[in-house]
Amino acid sequence: MLENKRILLGITGSIAAYKSALLARELQRRGAEVRVVMSQAAIDFITPLTLATLTGHRVYSDFTENKDQGTWTNHVDLGLWADAFLIAPATAQTLSSMVQGSGDSFLLAVHLSSRCPVIVAPAMDLDMFTHPATQENLSTLAQRGVGIIEPESGPLASGLDGKGRMAEPEHIADWMEKWFRDAAPLSGRRVLITAGPTHEPIDAVRFIGNRSSGKMGYALAEAFIQLGADVLLISGPVQLNPPAGVHEFVKVETAQDMYDAAMARFEGCDVAVAAAAVADARPTTPSDRKLHKGELPAAIALEPTLDILAAWGKNKTPTQTVVGFALETDNGEASAKSKLERKQADFIVLNTTADEGAGFGTDTNRITIFEKNGDSHKFELKSKAKVAEDIVTTLLKRILS
Ligand code: C5P
Repeated sequence: MLENKRILLGITGSIAAYKSALLARELQRRGAEVRVVMSQAAIDFITPLTLATLTGHRVYSDFTENKDQGTWTNHVDLGLWADAFLIAPATAQTLSSMVQGSGDSFLLAVHLSSRCPVIVAPAMDLDMFTHPATQENLSTLAQRGVGIIEPESGPLASGLDGKGRMAEPEHIADWMEKWFRDAAPLSGRRVLITAGPTHEPIDAVRFIGNRSSGKMGYALAEAFIQLGADVLLISGPVQLNPPAGVHEFVKVETAQDMYDAAMARFEGCDVAVAAAAVADARPTTPSDRKLHKGELPAAIALEPTLDILAAWGKNKTPTQTVVGFALETDNGEASAKSKLERKQADFIVLNTTADEGAGFGTDTNRITIFEKNGDSHKFELKSKAKVAEDIVTTLLKRILS
């Protein structure tokens, strides 16, 4: 996903420029923020008004905005704003000018001054593309770290058929997604998360459950996905959609199902987070049909469920990081510390229902993170998405060390 990624889209003078409008749309659809820089030649193919309307932002194409008043556009700021400068289409002329280090257009000046990674999607006729000059320019740019999105084969504007068409907008967006993912700090790391409540059947229609909404676990899954991790999310019954970009999503009902799914996937995980509110006990002899009113027992015999977090803690290797939650009704520091020890976790995230806006069902949370080494980190009340970022940032130090 391109959620919150700032992409500066450079458009140069090729007939493929008409597809840049679709590309801008596609990048935005996937969550990116898009600003557009156009060369003067690109304006012959597609109007700035089209791109400005689609992106909701003015288009940049010249150093000066109003010559009489001496106002100018700051190309340095644009380069600093962007997470990536994507030039699509990039003409043979543009590639050549980039190799030369030319700054004689606004777009080229942005290229020279940008600190973010630069990516080009070349578009030209097949002979221009295979020309040794173009090929040398591309390999020089690649050596400088510029990302190259290979053109595709098919009919060309010249009437010829061959390789040179700018990659389709969807393919460019796919390429950008993969590229951001590979560049992300947790790329290639596997993170296993349990979330939500479990339902323990009393009979075919009744169950024992709890008020967990799953929001904290899902927010954590999203935060890990943002950093490029392969997230495996095991979820109890909740009213939430699986997070976009999740590697594997497993829906379970009972504590036993969650335990089985969590243990089957633990090996090979770098991080395992027990954010689920697993039932501590289940009815010993659930009925597989609905009990009639008169048949309901006066008391329901319970037996303990298996503790996933404790099992992870017991089985973990030195390179695995295990994280648990402690939801307490009072300040709970002693309880969180004892959980850290008893369950052999590396981190325990404490939240207390005593804090207004924290705990089950709410959109906000106030947490303290306790580490195995005795350190603790206290955070203010904030949205669960922001809390998830705090947790992930705290874990990153250990995961990446
Ligand atoms: O012991 P307690 O239920 O308070 O511990 C809470 C922590 O243990 C949470 O991280 C929860 O996800 C985890 N847990 C678990 N399996 C259970 C019970 C709790 O993973 N059966």
